Amino acid sequence: MKYTNAWLQLRKRNANQLAHERLSLSTANLWLFLHRAADAVDRQFGWALRQTTAGERGWVLMLDGIVARQTDRRYLRDTILPALRRAKLSRALIVGVRRYSAGLEAAFDPAETECWTCDIDPAVELFGAPGAHVIQDVRSLDQSFPPGFFDLVVLNGVFGWGVDKTEDMNAAVKAIQHVLAPGGYLLIGWNADRTEAPDTLTSIAGAFAPANLFGLPHRKSFSDVTHVYAWFRKSR
Ligand SMILES: C[S@@+](CC[C@H](N)C(=O)[O-])C[C@H]1O[C@@H](n2cnc3c(N)ncnc32)[C@H](O)[C@@H]1O
Repeated sequence: MKYTNAWLQLRKRNANQLAHERLSLSTANLWLFLHRAADAVDRQFGWALRQTTAGERGWVLMLDGIVARQTDRRYLRDTILPALRRAKLSRALIVGVRRYSAGLEAAFDPAETECWTCDIDPAVELFGAPGAHVIQDVRSLDQSFPPGFFDLVVLNGVFGWGVDKTEDMNAAVKAIQHVLAPGGYLLIGWNADRTEAPDTLTSIAGAFAPANLFGLPHRKSFSDVTHVYAWFRKSR
C-alpha cells in the first residue's frame, strides 16, 4: 500500500512537470515565432511602417514588447546585470538605448558605479541614463570620453542594427578600446543571422582576450533566438 501510494504520487508529479515543460516550451515557441515574424516584416515593410509618426511609434512599441520577452533579454536582466552589479566597477557605458533598454543603468549600484549611456540617435535620449547620456556615434566615442575612462562597455544589439560593415565594427571596437581602462571588460551581444561574429574582427584579435566575469561563460547562445553574448577583456 505504502509503495502504491508513493508510485502514484511520483506519476502525478512527473505528469505535472511534463505539462509545465510543455507549457514553457510552447510559450518560448510563441515568442520565437513572433520575433521572427516581426523581424521579417521589419526587413520587408519597415520603411512603409515608418512613413507616419503614429505608424513608427506603434511599430516600435510592438517590437519592444516582443524583445522584452526574449530569452536572451531575460538572461541579460536576470544573469548578466546582477553579475555586473556584484563586480562593483567604477564606470560603465551602455551603447545603444531604446524604450525596452530604459533603466538598464539602474541595475548598477550608483554608490559603486557611475553608469553612462550613449546613442547616435538624438530621439532616444529620453531613454538614456538621466544626466549621464551622450548623443554619440560609437565609432568616435573618444570625442566624448577621455582615454581609459570606463571599466566596462556593453555593446549589445548595435552590430547588425546600425553598425553593420566590418570596417565600421572595427572602428567601433577601436574607439571602445580607447575609452576602456587596461583590463577593462567589453560585452558584445549580436544576432548571428544579422552580422559576422565579432571574435573574427582584427580589432578584437589585436587588443582583447576572451574573458569571463563572475563565472559567466565567455560565450552564451540560445536555442530559440539567434542572439549571442561574448565577453572580452582589454589586454593590459
Ligand atoms: C537594437 S537597438 C539596441 C539597444 C540596446 N543596446 C539594447 O541592448 O537594448 C540598437 C541601438 O543602437 C543604436 N545605434 C546604431 N548605430 C549606432 C552608432 N553608430 N553609434 C551609437 N549607437 C548606434 C541605435 O540608434 C539603436 O538605438
